Amino acid sequence: MEVSTTEKSIDGDYNWAKGVTEFEETKAGVKGLVDAGIANIPSFFINPPENLQNSSNTTHQIPIIDLKGFENGGQHRQKIVNEICKASETWGFFQIINHGVPDTVMDGMIEGARLFHEQPGETKMELYSRDRTQNVRYYSNEYLHLSKAAANWNDTLSCVFRDDMVNPDVLPSVLRREVEEYMKCIIKLKGQLCELLSEALGLSSDYFRSTECMKTTSFMCHYYPICPQPDLTQGLSQHTDLPFLTLLLQDGIGGLQSLHQDHWVDVHPVPKALIANLGDFMQLITNDKFKSVEHRVLARSVGPRVSTACFFSPSTRNVSKPCGPIKELLSEINPPIYKEVLITDLAAARSELNGTRSSVLPLFKL
Ligand code: OGA
Ligand code: NI
Repeated sequence: MEVSTTEKSIDGDYNWAKGVTEFEETKAGVKGLVDAGIANIPSFFINPPENLQNSSNTTHQIPIIDLKGFENGGQHRQKIVNEICKASETWGFFQIINHGVPDTVMDGMIEGARLFHEQPGETKMELYSRDRTQNVRYYSNEYLHLSKAAANWNDTLSCVFRDDMVNPDVLPSVLRREVEEYMKCIIKLKGQLCELLSEALGLSSDYFRSTECMKTTSFMCHYYPICPQPDLTQGLSQHTDLPFLTLLLQDGIGGLQSLHQDHWVDVHPVPKALIANLGDFMQLITNDKFKSVEHRVLARSVGPRVSTACFFSPSTRNVSKPCGPIKELLSEINPPIYKEVLITDLAAARSELNGTRSSVLPLFKL
């Protein structure tokens, strides 16, 4: 892979490929740099100024939706469904409270994720890998070698639970119990949200469940160390999520922002809340009714920040079945905008963008 050095850094002599390779060989991630006591971040983390603009809009707030009592049906459920519909159409992002995941389970998950990343380097190193076929692995910056974009100030542990088969034995022991408990609750909540989202589209409650389009969960524990030069880099650069739905748990540090009407809006930590956001595949099958919105995480001088993200994608049975806009939503005045695609097509398109993680949807328009 040819790597351009010119657009990467403010230091013309800096050798991008060498810097990246040295970093990679440490297998210690961004946390390793911080532990080594660096005062200046390596040049490959430095962003061009246009990425770092922070025209944040403080008057807007991500909707907070209270799920309490939705199981009882009736008008109260309809009210919640309407709120989800409106938030999905206008924001693509909302926080949910009274979602049924106990506080102790959420706290345990954040703590387990923190403990994983704060283990001695040698313990984590064994899991350091860029092999995407490996179900459990740890890495820093997924697209590091491919990307022409600046690297992000974070490390990630990722686990894939195909068809929601959670096998605790494959998990690192330091957070095994915590993930197991959390996933049990998240899989239940996902089922409930699948119903509410189906209803929000005017479809039968079991539409998303029966199509098994959210049956596989990719689970990521992100760790954003304190950054010595937070004005030069980002925790996680601007991107949309690919799969149908993401459920995110964040600690109290803050730094997540969502793009709304061309302004960055802080997704403030709300105690006991989970954040839901819709991905490109959801926008595609809803023919642009629901939005997949760009978001990012700032690098901060406070922290470390810990978050866990669960991404829901099709079952192994359906992963090679093309999906297009849902027929029931189409009409003469709402003709299909997108082709039928596989989720792997979206992922491949994103990889080809060399890690610039903006929406790939325009590539799949009819
Ligand atoms: C992601 C993501 C945000 C966060 O993993 O796609 O947007 O707060 N994470 O870590
Ligand atoms: Ni995301």
